[in-house]
Amino acid sequence: MKKYVVIGNPIEHSLSPQLHNYWIKKNNIDAVYDKKKINENELKNIIFEVKKEKINGINVTVPFKKAIIPFLDELSIEANETQSVNTIYLNNGKTVGHNTDASGFELALKYSKYNLCNKRIFILGAGGVVSSIIFALNKMKPSKIILSNRTKEKAENLKNLFKYIDIVNWGEIPNFDMIINATSLGLKEDDEIKLNFSNIGKDKIFYDVIYNPIETKFLKKAKDLGHRVENGKMMFVYQAHQAFTLWHKIMPNIDSETIKLLD
Ligand code: ATR
Repeated sequence: MKKYVVIGNPIEHSLSPQLHNYWIKKNNIDAVYDKKKINENELKNIIFEVKKEKINGINVTVPFKKAIIPFLDELSIEANETQSVNTIYLNNGKTVGHNTDASGFELALKYSKYNLCNKRIFILGAGGVVSSIIFALNKMKPSKIILSNRTKEKAENLKNLFKYIDIVNWGEIPNFDMIINATSLGLKEDDEIKLNFSNIGKDKIFYDVIYNPIETKFLKKAKDLGHRVENGKMMFVYQAHQAFTLWHKIMPNIDSETIKLLD
């Protein structure tokens, strides 16, 4: 039986096992997908397990997507350019780090039929997932990607990786067509992003990377003001879909039953 695992810290709330085990069963694959809370000093050992084929694939989540990189033999183009790994596998005896968050985000936007060509995108946050979002957005040829983070230094680190982005101070709201919440604000029901959106104009797209809760205050307020809103559920589904396809060489179905698993 093949073994897959998602590692992170915390990990209790990860819905990856539900999704992967559902597809494993649907496709009659002899495999199991677990979750494991680990500490940073265990990263090296767990990659060794992949090398020994005791584990056949790993998903990596917060806060190890960058920290795992030194322990891998090779990186895919996406993982290298984003300096972020969420999917690991063995290829010709080498451990490979790949990134499916970027294509997950891109496919989720396509699913929603958003055309971002020549649009101004404003990203809030500079945590683990933001490099994947910038990488994916840039392929869609927006006119500008603007980023703001409470800790400006982290925003500037991202600018070193993606020279074409603009940085604004936390609290400033530039003109935008789409705003993306990529901070962790909203994970708790009471969390609120204290920015004033009363003067931003009409018909904007508000996207929240968070999918649990399904509607953060950020999205609820935007909806009340008549803007288009979208949560991170399809991004989550598509990043898992890409990892599953890579590992099992089978493209699983995304249907209403799959999406319901995450409600
Ligand atoms: P990590 O930074 O370890 O990758 P993350 O959950 O991916 O963790 O990122 C958390 C993001 O939410 C960061 O951009 C963080 O801002 P800081 O870099 O300033 O910490 C942002 N964030 C968390 N709490 C916040 C708050 N109360 N106000 C504004 N931004 C917040």
